[in-house]
Amino acid sequence: MQKTLSIIKPDGVSKKLIGEVICVFESAGFRIAAMKMKWLNRAEAEGFYYVHRERPFFPELVDFMTSGPVVLMVLEGDDVIKRNREIMGATDPAEAKAGTIRARWAGSKQNNIVHGSDSEESAKFEISHFFSGIEIF
Ligand code: CMP
Repeated sequence: MQKTLSIIKPDGVSKKLIGEVICVFESAGFRIAAMKMKWLNRAEAEGFYYVHRERPFFPELVDFMTSGPVVLMVLEGDDVIKRNREIMGATDPAEAKAGTIRARWAGSKQNNIVHGSDSEESAKFEISHFFSGIEIF
């Protein structure tokens, strides 16, 4: 079984979409193997998005990700990394397919409700950034 890291971002939490997003994941057959709510500090957000550190949007992205609490989850399932990205939709909600999380609820490229790991390598890094082994069931 494959695992991926999912984040309900501060906009998803403030729009009261935690339940809706979890419902989408569980309806897709994903198992929630770990979950916690956390208000990220700058070091945690910068470390998480390290690969984007040279991008012009990086400072605003860190501001946004530290603007309120997030919900961190480890999702498990067959091919869950790819399937979760399909369910989330494109980064830019204007390009996201109808019915995806971002098409339904995202406000902008940055404020796009959810994050999902994009490869096995990033899933491994991202899960270990937020969860220890004994927190994953
Ligand atoms: P995420 O899937 O978490 O991965 C990187 C994040 O950077 C992305 O979602 C968006 O929140 C943000 N992002 C990506 N591209 C842009 C952009 N062009 N402008 C602003 N934010 C962006």
